[in-house]
Amino acid sequence: MAVKVKSVFFCQSCGAESPKWVGKCTSCGAWNTYVEELVTKTGPSSKTTTFQTRQVTSKPILIDEIEFKEEDRIVTYSNELNRVLGGGIVYGSLILLGGEPGIGKSTLMLQLALHLQNKRVLYISGEESEQQIKLRANRIAAKNNSLYVLTEVIMENILTQLHNQPADVIIIDSIQTLYTGLIESSAGSISQIRECAGQLLKLAKTTGIPIFLIGHITKDGSIAGPKVLEHMVDVVLQFEGDRNHLFRILRASKNRFGSTSEIGIYEMATEGLREVENPSGILISDKEETLSGTSVCVTMEGIRPILLEIQALVSTAVYGTPQRSATGFDLRRLNMLLAVLEKRCGFQLSIKDVFLNLTGGIKVEDPAMDLAVISAILSSNENTTVSPEICFAAEVGLTGEIRPVTRIEQRIAEAEKLGFKRIFVSKFNTKGLKLDKYQIKVVGLNKVEELYKELFYI
Ligand code: TYD
Ligand code: MG
Repeated sequence: MAVKVKSVFFCQSCGAESPKWVGKCTSCGAWNTYVEELVTKTGPSSKTTTFQTRQVTSKPILIDEIEFKEEDRIVTYSNELNRVLGGGIVYGSLILLGGEPGIGKSTLMLQLALHLQNKRVLYISGEESEQQIKLRANRIAAKNNSLYVLTEVIMENILTQLHNQPADVIIIDSIQTLYTGLIESSAGSISQIRECAGQLLKLAKTTGIPIFLIGHITKDGSIAGPKVLEHMVDVVLQFEGDRNHLFRILRASKNRFGSTSEIGIYEMATEGLREVENPSGILISDKEETLSGTSVCVTMEGIRPILLEIQALVSTAVYGTPQRSATGFDLRRLNMLLAVLEKRCGFQLSIKDVFLNLTGGIKVEDPAMDLAVISAILSSNENTTVSPEICFAAEVGLTGEIRPVTRIEQRIAEAEKLGFKRIFVSKFNTKGLKLDKYQIKVVGLNKVEELYKELFYI
């Protein structure tokens, strides 16, 4: 059959295809993202093959007759990973792990491989040499006698190796380094990523071997390569956190076999990643004396409550335009809360610099933090401490009303468990709660004006 080489332009951001170059992608609207790639067609593409074979072999089957046992998952050593995956690794699943460089993706995967005892694991790396992988394995205190390392990037060679020596679990570090001879464009290009992922998908589905793919992410946080990659795989895991901080959060942004609201928390240590099983207490610092400008908020990460410390610094502005800066918190939301304090409570904050910081390098988008943020700002502004026995969980609206938040009972219970004596919530949230069952005093507030009195006049 004649080999046809076709030149196609691909949007590097969304994967859309065009026969000629265009400046603006008609599909995702991004500018200057089209790159020419050469596509060699040697017969029907893998997609049509899969479709055709399916057409022949698949028959409709009653849903009640489909057998699925919960044991059909590989339960890993890590409770955090199991939880995020929905109970373990499902056979035949394709799992994509994304995260910034240096966050610990390779470490997480190698650690998993080393702990999967009695399973033949094939760790394929196109990023590091065997020695580098061995060096990392030496730091992690675990041993798997059936872990094989293959440094290879050519898809065809990988498939041959697998044919000669099948594996139970495959890990690929990373999808962007893979290269298939079917397509002429360079490794990491959209068509290469798509084709290699397609082949791996077929491999996973036909053999039942679970495959982990490590994927790089772009500046804006999405996984490099087309969105189609995220559509193809069964699970998309994101490994997040601040490289300068110890904590890492693993969350599933897509999971065909479980919920996406679960998260796993890890800590980077010298011997690899350590699981943090009880995260709620670690982010609040144990201090001898309380300082002004700090408050504690009960936020939710997935479905687990976490207590976080918020620090604020309010000082007289040195320049005409006051500075506002927030780490781990949305700056626009901070500006809104400052405007509420100014308008509703009459604090002259527009002439002050305001800095806000969440401890632990964690980014949170829970509106329940609002009240704690306001308390920290007031505390710093007044130079008066908020009692260390108080914590907060409520949203603040534009009119200064204190609004209810979700899962309030869980938040109150967690605050009580960690020894807090009072929790400030919205009055609406206290309706229907059996307050006498708690040791902790639940204070319901209506308006932000009431907060000041409650905090500093008792
Ligand atoms: P790595 O897994 O290589 O990140 P990624 O694959 O996401 O790019 O590891 C990132 C960092 O983790 C690296 O800078 C060193 C650190 N690290 C530790 O602190 N302790 C350890 O035991 C290991 C293996 C790595
Ligand atoms: Mg790596």
